[in-house]
Amino acid sequence: MTSEALRKARDFEAQYGPHIPAQERPAFHATPTIGWMNDPNGFSFYQGECHLFYQYHPYSNEWGPMYWGHLKTADFLRWDRLPAALAPDQEYDAFGCFSGGAVELPDGRQLLMYTGVQRQHNQEGFLQDIQTQCAAIGDGVDYEKCPLNPVLDGTSLPAGGSAVDFRDPKVWREGDVFYAAIGNRTEDDSGAVLLYQSPDCLHWEFVRTLDRSYNQYGKMWECPDFFPLDGRQVLITSPQDMEPQGLEYHAGNGTLCLIGRYEPEGEGFVRERAQAIDYGLDFYAPQTLEAPDGRRIMIAWMQNWATVRSKPHHCRWFGQMTLPRELSVRNGRLCQLPVRELESRRGAAVVRRSLLVNGETSLPGVQGRTVDLTVTVRPMAGSSYRWFRLHVAKGGRYDTIIRYRPGEDTVKIDRTRGGLPFDIVHTRTFLVRPRDGEIKLRVILDRFSVELFVNDGEQAASTVIYTPQEADAITFEAGGQVLVDVEKYDLLFDEEKEG
Ligand code: FRU
Repeated sequence: MTSEALRKARDFEAQYGPHIPAQERPAFHATPTIGWMNDPNGFSFYQGECHLFYQYHPYSNEWGPMYWGHLKTADFLRWDRLPAALAPDQEYDAFGCFSGGAVELPDGRQLLMYTGVQRQHNQEGFLQDIQTQCAAIGDGVDYEKCPLNPVLDGTSLPAGGSAVDFRDPKVWREGDVFYAAIGNRTEDDSGAVLLYQSPDCLHWEFVRTLDRSYNQYGKMWECPDFFPLDGRQVLITSPQDMEPQGLEYHAGNGTLCLIGRYEPEGEGFVRERAQAIDYGLDFYAPQTLEAPDGRRIMIAWMQNWATVRSKPHHCRWFGQMTLPRELSVRNGRLCQLPVRELESRRGAAVVRRSLLVNGETSLPGVQGRTVDLTVTVRPMAGSSYRWFRLHVAKGGRYDTIIRYRPGEDTVKIDRTRGGLPFDIVHTRTFLVRPRDGEIKLRVILDRFSVELFVNDGEQAASTVIYTPQEADAITFEAGGQVLVDVEKYDLLFDEEKEG
């Protein structure tokens, strides 16, 4: 039965969502039907179709009691809107239906597993959350919350685990067994990922702690995911309250990828390497799926809690997802590239080899705000350069700059003039590894965002921008002399289908 709260939200989004003109949204990135979006939830295939749910507050462009919004996609680029899937309409989720996952049940129904949050006064009179895991079962459009809810509560935690910070179940199936990886806060006040198993997705038992922060990688570990990839085992999570470490991790809400091996009958998950997932300004809470063709595809919220105050005035949608990215492990690192479906959206190419850049220059036909651009930079025999800058979304007082410094092996992304008039961080710098002196920068522009992939996805960096679409120049600039290969495509989308 659809609750009053869900019915109202569905009426509201159906009435007001279609008034937002397609041109005011990205052409191919997922946005909320109306109002606020944060984490991706339930990114999964169900009956052969790809579903994406999201943390949703339809009634304003601010975070509020959490609903689950709902989208479907046939190509990871165009998003069909479905009615909101969950509303905070029960005692155990009155403060919100927080993040979670989705899985197809053996009987053909779809189960959503999410964190139900209640906010209560504790013994000292302070407001405190109680977080439990809940289930809702449905047909891909309408879902019933299970009478057994909550299906997992604080009584199922290992010693020292916190029932205040116990959230974001990512659920999957292996044969007859369902598994859930869930974020938790431990007795040392930092984070952990817990693994549970169940025969039916309703009755759960604790298996083991997969890994812990021990205060090394931030505090609470939010939105975990755990999957095999290219012969390795990968644990990703989004830690809160990180302290900076070199150029790898910045302060605040960050992302962490742990790569190792998994011995289910033995030691469990054995971590071998750690890295950040995205080195840009706006990226959090990634979640993955395994596509029917075997690809491991990741999508994330293209925002960060520290940057959400910065939004266009009176915007009727706020928050967007990254481009879905194909993952691989190469040379011990998590690599990511835009889904290959993007290539079928490419228009005519503008290609230029060995362009000599000395000062700032542009190329005929190379501009735009929905663009797939690859720039390979290499030194010229007999001369040197101190830096190379790629300017995008440039015009008037606007400019977003990607700068490479060969002497330091760093790339900096700078959206100081990216149309966000708030006193927040606007630049990030990270380490890259040139190959034979060359560096390859692939940039995907989609109206309100810039996503950068360095050296075939060894590093990724994402940032939102809110500049007028007329600011569409792209230029190349060098401090010294350098040779540049350019390959540029417009990305073509049929606006009629958007909205
Ligand atoms: C991460 C997060 C999750 C939580 C959700 C609430 O961005 O804080 O841990 O479930 O957002 O909207």
